[in-house]
Amino acid sequence: MNKKETLLEQIRADIIDNNISPDLAKTAKNLVMGDGNIDTDIVFIGEAPGKNEDETGLPFVGAAGKFLDEMLATAGMQRSDIYITNIVKYRPPNNRDPLPEEKKAFWPFLVRQLNIIRPKIVVTLGRHSMEYFLPEQKISMIHGDPKRISFGDTKIVIVPLYHPAAALYNGGLRATLIEDFMKLPTIIKLLEKEKK
Ligand code: URA
Repeated sequence: MNKKETLLEQIRADIIDNNISPDLAKTAKNLVMGDGNIDTDIVFIGEAPGKNEDETGLPFVGAAGKFLDEMLATAGMQRSDIYITNIVKYRPPNNRDPLPEEKKAFWPFLVRQLNIIRPKIVVTLGRHSMEYFLPEQKISMIHGDPKRISFGDTKIVIVPLYHPAAALYNGGLRATLIEDFMKLPTIIKLLEKEKK
């Protein structure tokens, strides 16, 4: 294991050792930490694992994940180009929305993940992960608009997107999400230019 992998594994151990979100831990089968490229510039953050994710221990492997993969491919990317995780790392029973205290309990661990991976862009999927980076904002007002924020000792760009599961069976939202998603390659290019 390299240094980053070791540090990320330590987060998993700390969540278990500190019995974070004990009620969810009791009902969940797996702790779903995240998956993908830990040397990436772009991290996607969803809400919480669903049934398939709980069973496999991997994020976004169900219907919403397949839709996400399709959008990534259309934008010229694949899973191995990005890292993907959730704000809440255990499945809430019956896929209910994560509770405020559950999001709060897991937030410091998400911050640690980001401080290890150090992405330039964080794509939030849905309002549950967005609200922690862009408090008091409404997703219906700001979806698809990149926002630069200070994050610890660095600056990152947040791209707030609708959640693929919400857009899956809603034609209007689906078209909006695809349109917003297709802005990502331009945002990535602009940031690369700034680096030079
Ligand atoms: N929805 C999410 O927010 N995360 C997953 O991992 C799967 C579905």
